[in-house]
Amino acid sequence: MNPISRRSLVLGGLATAGATALPLHSAVIAATAAVPYPFQLGIASGDPDPASVVLWTRLAPSPLNADGHGGMANANVTVDWQVSTNELFTTIVASGSVVATYASAHSVHVIAGGLNPDSDYFYRFRAQGHLSPVGRTRTTPALGAAGRNLTMAFTSCSHYEEGYFTVYRRIAEDNPGVVLHLGDYIYEYGTGTGRPRAHAGATEIVSLADYRRRYAQYKSDPDLQAAHAAAPWIVVPDDHELENNHAGNIRADSTPALTAAQWTARRTAAYQAYYENMPLRPAQASNGPAIPLFRRIRWGNLATFHMLDTRQYRSDQACGDGWKVCSDADLASRSLPGNAQESWLLDGLGLKASTWDIIGQQVFFARRFNASGASMDSWDGYRASRARIQQGWVNRGVRNPVVLTGDVHRAWASNLMADYNNANSAIIGSELVTSSVSSGGDGDGATTIPDVSNNPWLKFFNNRRGYVRTTMSPTELRADFRAVAKVTEHGAPATTVKSFVIQEGRPGLQTA
Ligand SMILES: [Fe+2]
Repeated sequence: MNPISRRSLVLGGLATAGATALPLHSAVIAATAAVPYPFQLGIASGDPDPASVVLWTRLAPSPLNADGHGGMANANVTVDWQVSTNELFTTIVASGSVVATYASAHSVHVIAGGLNPDSDYFYRFRAQGHLSPVGRTRTTPALGAAGRNLTMAFTSCSHYEEGYFTVYRRIAEDNPGVVLHLGDYIYEYGTGTGRPRAHAGATEIVSLADYRRRYAQYKSDPDLQAAHAAAPWIVVPDDHELENNHAGNIRADSTPALTAAQWTARRTAAYQAYYENMPLRPAQASNGPAIPLFRRIRWGNLATFHMLDTRQYRSDQACGDGWKVCSDADLASRSLPGNAQESWLLDGLGLKASTWDIIGQQVFFARRFNASGASMDSWDGYRASRARIQQGWVNRGVRNPVVLTGDVHRAWASNLMADYNNANSAIIGSELVTSSVSSGGDGDGATTIPDVSNNPWLKFFNNRRGYVRTTMSPTELRADFRAVAKVTEHGAPATTVKSFVIQEGRPGLQTA
C-alpha cells in the first residue's frame, strides 16, 4: 500500500470531495477543528466471504483514558464508511452509515456487501469530520472456484511489554491476502519491570474498562495498525485475552482473588471487549460470559479455514496442569475443543470442500514429550480427543489437513502421525507452529530441535520471534518461517529461517 499519511488523507479526502466522496455537511466540517482525531486505534477488516467482508473501527481520541471509553462522551456518533476499488476512492462500490454507541465503546462492525468474489478493495471511515486511515481488504473466491493463489500469514502472542511489534510490520510488507491471529493478541498482566515497553495499568486487568483500555493501548501501535490495514484478518483468542491457562470457566490460579460472580463478570467483560476490538461479524458477538467463535471461512475450493476455540469448552487440564507424566490425559471423557466442537470440526472436514483444510487453533497439536512428561495445557493433555480428530479425518479421506498453532513463543514444524508410539506409522497431516510477535523477548536463535530423539516427527525449531508466511496453490502449500533477530529494539528486518513444501495429496513436510 502506498504510504499515504493520515493527515494527507484528511485533507485530500476533503479537498477532492465530489460525487463519489463521503457526504460533506457543514456541521461536520465545522466540527473538524474542535474534535480530536478519533481513529487513533486504526481500522481493520475480517472474515471475508465471496460477497462481503466485515469492516471495523473504534473511535478513541484519547485511547488510554482509565474509563475505557478512549475519550468519547456518552453519546451516539454516526460513522460513515466507503469501499472502493482503488485507493483514491474515485469509484465507490459500497457505502453507508452506522451508529457507534457508548455502550459498545464506540466500536463498529460493518458488513460491507455486494462485492465481487476474489477481488481487492479499499475501505475507510469518516466520523466527527475526520477520515480514517485507508485499509485494503479482499473477498474470497466464489464457492467452487479456486481463485488466485493465496498468501496467508499467521502469528500469535503479542505481549506489548516484551517487545516492539516489528513482526506485524513485516507481515504488512509481505502484502498477504489474509492474516490469521491465533491468540494472545493482548496480555492481561499488570506492569512489569525492566522491559522495553510498559502496560498502562499497574495490576492485572479485570473490569470491562480495563480490557477496553488494554486493547486501546495495543491497537495504538502503528505496526499492528499496518498489519490490520494490509489485509482481512481471521482471529481466534487463546487464554491471555481473558486470563492465563484458564479452562472454560475454571481458573488456573486464584490471583487476583475473585468471587464466582466476579469471575463471571470478568469473563463477560473480556469477551465483550474482544468482540468490540476485533473485525468479527456480529454473529460472533459475545453473550454474557460466552462468545461463539469457532467458525469456518471458505476460501473458494482452494482452502477452508476451520477456526477453533480451544479455551471455552475444554475439560480442565489433567493432573493439575504443567508438564506431567499423566495417565488421565488418555481419558476418553476428556476433550480439548469439547464434544460439540469436535463433531463440528469433523463434519466440516468431511465436506472435503477444498484442497487445503487449514485448522487454525492455539495449542501444540503433535505429540511432544520429554523426561518431565508433556504439556497438559496442549493436546498432549487431551490425547483421546486428538486421536478422535486425527482418526476422524483419516476415516473421512481428508487429503490435505494442515494444523496451525501458536502459544509456545517458538517456531516449530511437525509431521502428524497416525500413531505416535510408532515412528514408522503413516504421516497423516502436518503442523506449522508460529513463533510469537514479541512474547519471550529476542530469543537466542537456537535451531536444535529439543528432544527430537523422543519425537522424531518434529522437523523444525527456532527460538526467534516471527510469523509463518504460507502460499497456497491447488498443487502445493509453501510455508516460510520468518524471524526477526530483535524485538527489544524497533525495526529489525525479517529473514526466512526455513521453508517447507506440502504437496497436494501427500501429507507431511518436505524441505523446500
Ligand atoms: Fe502467548
